[in-house]
Amino acid sequence: MTERGEKPPFLYVVVCAAGIAADVGRLINAAQEREWHVGVIATPLAMDGFFDTAAVEAQTGRPIRSAWRRPGDPRPFPEPDAVVVAPATFNTINKWAAGIADTLALGTLCEVSGLGVPIAVLPCVADALAAHPAYQESLTRLRATGVRFGPPYAGADGEEFAWEEALDLLDRAAR
Ligand SMILES: Cc1cc2nc3c(=O)[nH]c(=O)nc-3n(C[C@H](O)[C@H](O)[C@H](O)COP(=O)(O)O)c2cc1C
Repeated sequence: MTERGEKPPFLYVVVCAAGIAADVGRLINAAQEREWHVGVIATPLAMDGFFDTAAVEAQTGRPIRSAWRRPGDPRPFPEPDAVVVAPATFNTINKWAAGIADTLALGTLCEVSGLGVPIAVLPCVADALAAHPAYQESLTRLRATGVRFGPPYAGADGEEFAWEEALDLLDRAAR
């Protein structure tokens, strides 16, 4: 429980453009049950039909962030106490590892990597893409900075996406 007067813990959920993003409400629900306040940052492509943005805004009580704020505008979210990237695409994982910050989601990830904030990632990457050498190097590079990865998920029939595991990874990182 949050002590009186204590700032509630704030979780950034970064959503990329993968089909499984349609179920991101499950992660938000599970996080809220663990008393996280949640703000969603989505890649511009993820905003384009990959999940129900109105439902997620209603669930979190905050607008989804996808574009950079204008100079002089206040920061819309508090600083994060932890970050979950789910689903994480091949594209965003590789660009993040390479230090590219051309979307708000990537800029945020590059920045929080250097702050010591716990970060858990649930990749959603087809086996053929996961075999690409750049992807394997990206995982090694990000792991070396303390980023924690959930199990590989390629979207095969019957395969479950481990939404709650992301929260378990954060708990383990905090210990
Ligand atoms: C319907 C659909 C489903 C997709 N699913 C995935 C996926 O599961 N994993 C992935 O890495 N890319 C997937 N893609 C491709 C990404 O959307 C594409 O690489 C995009 O550039 C990712 O952008 P982002 O990383 O900025 O979200 C999918 C594309 C479409 C149209």
